[in-house]
This record gives sequence, C-alpha cells and structure tokens, in this order.
Amino acid sequence: MKIFILSVGENIYSTQRLVEEAEHKGHSVRVINHTKCSVKLGSGRPQIIFEGENIIDKPDVIIPRIGGSVSRHGAAIVKEFEMNGVFSTARSLGILRAQNKVRTLQIMNRKNVPIPQTVFSINPKNIDEQIELLGGPPVIIKLQEGTQGLGVILAESKKSAKSIMDTFYNMNASFMLQEFIEESNGEDIRAIVVGNKVVAAMKRKGEVGEFRSNIHRGGTGEVAELTNREVKIALQATKYLSLPVAGVDMIRSKKGSLLIEVNASPGLQGVEAYTKVNIAEHIIKFLETNVRKKFQKRTR
Ligand SMILES: Nc1ncnc2c1ncn2[C@@H]1O[C@H](COP(=O)(O)OP(=O)(O)O)[C@@H](O)[C@H]1O
Ligand SMILES: [Mg+2]
Repeated sequence: MKIFILSVGENIYSTQRLVEEAEHKGHSVRVINHTKCSVKLGSGRPQIIFEGENIIDKPDVIIPRIGGSVSRHGAAIVKEFEMNGVFSTARSLGILRAQNKVRTLQIMNRKNVPIPQTVFSINPKNIDEQIELLGGPPVIIKLQEGTQGLGVILAESKKSAKSIMDTFYNMNASFMLQEFIEESNGEDIRAIVVGNKVVAAMKRKGEVGEFRSNIHRGGTGEVAELTNREVKIALQATKYLSLPVAGVDMIRSKKGSLLIEVNASPGLQGVEAYTKVNIAEHIIKFLETNVRKKFQKRTR
C-alpha cells in the first residue's frame, strides 16, 4: 500500500510509530504536512499540491493526524482525498464532529449514548438560569474546542462560575457547562478503538489536587478493564461519529460511565507505554484489511 500520514511533523511520536509499523509491514509511507498543502478546484480534476507536486492520486490510504488548531483545513484536505476514493482512518465529517464537544454530545445524546448533563447557550443574560439548569454549583465550564485539559475549568461557587462565563462571553469564546462528576475522583478512561474493536484502554489519574486526568496535565495511566457498558459506549461513539480509529474519553459516575469526548487523532505515546499494546500495528492492519476489501470490490 501507499500510505500517506497527514501530520505536521515527522518527529511526533505517534507519526513516527505509524511510519515504523507501516515500513515494517513493507508498505511505502510518506508524511505529508497538511498545513503546507494547497487545493486547486474549478478547472478539470481537483489537485492537492504539496511541495510543487500534485499528490491527489498518489496514496491508497491516508492516516490523518490532525491537531485541533488546524482541523478545519485538515478536514478539507481529507475531504478532497476522500472524494477521490482514498480510504481514510478518519472521515473528514468525523474529524469535524469530534473537534467540537457540543456537536459530539448532541449526536451522542440523540443516539442515547450516556453523557454528563450539559448546557450550552450564547445568552450572557441567563447565566443564573444556565447554572440552575444543572442544579447549581459546582459546575464544569468547558471550551467547546479545547484539548489536553486546557479549557476545562471547575467553578465551585456560583460567583466564580458567573465571572468565568462573563469573561468567556466577552472574549467570544464558545463554551459549555457540565455537571461536575466529583466521584470520578480525577480519573477518566481512554479507550482506543480501531475498526470495530477496542484494542487498548487505560485509566488516567490526575496529579494530587487536580481534577483533570490528562497526561499533558501531569496525569499518569494504567491498564483499564472496561465494563460491557464502556465497550458499548466506545464502539457506538466511533460508529456515530464516522471515525473508525479514535480515542474515546469516559468518566465513571454514580450513574455509570459517561462519554465526555472523542479524539479523532488520539496520541499513541502514553497509551502504548501504559498498556504495552502496539496500537500503530493495529492501525496498519486495519488499513490492510480495508484496502484489500476495496481492491476486491474494484476487480469484481
Ligand atoms: N464533567 C466533568 N466532571 C468531572 N471531571 C471532568 C468533567 N469533564 C472533564 N473532566 C476531567 O477533565 C479532563 C479533560 O476533559 P475533556 O472533556 O476530556 O477535555 P480535553 O479535550 O481537554 O481532554 C477529563 O479527562 C476529566 O478528567
Ligand atoms: Mg480528553
């Protein structure tokens, strides 16, 4: 297979691991910096230009590894490849759905996937009402497009919740409110889904005194045994978002586990180290199976 990895850097751990596993299995692989790709439309066939070369027909499959800040452009590049019949580990639609937590939770709620109680509004005049809809403080105030735990705030009183929300409204930042799941105890569950399977799962625990469990915020991980409910949540989430490969975050609450977000380009470093699962290999194998299916269809 000719595999293109869309990534801003060859030296990023996850990108390196995917290159390594792809080469190990005899595939040809190139890292394409999607932020340096231009798209030309409107005269003849669309082109994707990278370093002076039209690459639109070059790959059999792509693995998008697209960070939050450039996801709109990244998703547009993925879309262009998709429309040209290239198989992708993440659909452009899925990348955009997962990028925004409100959009993700709307879809999850519609499909009856359990989530924390969540409120969003753009009305600075009903701050009290929004907090009351969640039964009062403490509440979580979360940027809709934050990552790595940045943009997740715990407001313990109504007073602090109001001042934070005022500030965000004033900055035109899109955020949402969420009930604070105190009993999760600074822990969450990250499940890695590849194809229709959970291939690895870890429990992350935040530093002492920290309610956010992100590894980037000093959290640590260990292998997690998922309940049937958690496996079901993880598989439903990736199915409904159109993301065959994804990281699904859940927290364990009194009401049972709840989905909090889905990551379209989950980092591999922490989870491979903590679980000892070769996730990069699972991803390459998944591609092999799907591309084989596609070629079989074509020749039939
Ligand atoms: N409603 C909540 N109640 C308690 N803790 C939460 C809640 N939402 C998020 N957290 C904690 O904050 C972390 C980061 O939140 P998350 O929604 O995954 O955003 P990010 O995209 O920044 O990782 C979670 O892993 C979890 O530990
Ligand atoms: Mg998270």
